[in-house]
Amino acid sequence: MKLSARAQRLQPSATLTITAKAKSLKAQGIDVIGFGAGEPDFDSPDHVKEAAINAINKGMTKYTGVAGIDELKDAIIQRLKEDHGLEYEKSEIMTSVGAKHTLYNLTQVLFESGDEVIVPAPYWVSYPEQITLAEATPVILETKESDGFKITPEALKQHINSNTKSLILNYPSNPTGATYNEQELRAIVDVAMEAGLIIISDEIYEKIIYGDNKHIPVAALGEDIKKSTILVNGVSKTYSMTGWRIGYAAGDKDVISAMSKLQGQSTSNPTSISQWAAIAAFTGDHKIIEDRTKEFEQRKNYIVEKLNKITEITCFDPQGAFYVFPNVSGCYGKEFNGKVLSNSLDFTEFILDEAKVAVVPGVAFGADDYVRISYATSMDDIVKGIDRITEAVKKLS
Ligand SMILES: Cc1ncc(COP(=O)(O)O)c(C=O)c1O
Repeated sequence: MKLSARAQRLQPSATLTITAKAKSLKAQGIDVIGFGAGEPDFDSPDHVKEAAINAINKGMTKYTGVAGIDELKDAIIQRLKEDHGLEYEKSEIMTSVGAKHTLYNLTQVLFESGDEVIVPAPYWVSYPEQITLAEATPVILETKESDGFKITPEALKQHINSNTKSLILNYPSNPTGATYNEQELRAIVDVAMEAGLIIISDEIYEKIIYGDNKHIPVAALGEDIKKSTILVNGVSKTYSMTGWRIGYAAGDKDVISAMSKLQGQSTSNPTSISQWAAIAAFTGDHKIIEDRTKEFEQRKNYIVEKLNKITEITCFDPQGAFYVFPNVSGCYGKEFNGKVLSNSLDFTEFILDEAKVAVVPGVAFGADDYVRISYATSMDDIVKGIDRITEAVKKLS
């Protein structure tokens, strides 16, 4: 059958592909360490599971309103108010089948042919694909490691023209773990506001943040900024609830209403049971989240220190999320068994073959000098995996 041009243009998700490859090797009995995962290794909290079981037992198993049940919208509103002093009405909140679906709905209702959307690189793999699916053009704004992988107001200005409709921000970032402080955010947002851009702010890693860093939503920077911003978040990363598939958008009610219309003709509501579980997550005790973040930070510290000891590798110290994004380009031009490594795909393949460690090539995130290592895995695996990478790199000449 002839597929549509749209389907033919679509790229598979590199992160899902590498995770699947590592799983398949494991299934064959090969001892592979997976650093590809984009999900916490922790289990969903018990009170979340109990809320889901209760929902089933109480018969909360029917269709709900397309944008989600009022109780869930109230829980989201309460979280945004308590955590950030942000005030939203229920008509400004919409839940979907994960934040990925929220972003898909958003790109479909906001963008069309001729629109340009600025995507800072390294970027999360789905942004350019979703923008292209909406027939708009992703405009990649490269950031430098020396700038902490952050965009600067000057660089942003240079990428804006009369077709620019929106800027996507993601902080803490997947894949770099970089985040913005208030002053940096304000400088960028001033430029975006002056150009009349819609800001899509993907804050899915907001609670996984280290040391003195504090997460500040763009929307909290002022009432006019809030009006131009669609905040995207969800339960996947913070509450270890990737499989439950609940994400949300908070922002302009006309945008929310258009997204609801689209969702009403595609998936309808996200799973009713997951919605009740998400309420428990948002309203329950957050101590467990703090403990898990501390554990992530310990793992991160270990990896950054170890990787920086490898002569050919340098590793940026992330401020949040659960990834490190080391520069492995010092290995390029070197060879093993007659094969010269020239890019992140070569490096990834070499590490998988020689070290039996799965990492994600940076090219998938628009940064070919890098690879992404997820530390959402046990400390034992981290120690083993980093040792194996260290030994494998020594074999290059
Ligand atoms: C930056 C970013 N945004 C959004 C998502 C989507 O999360 P979910 O659809 O599980 O809510 C992810 C997941 O990998 C992500 O890393």
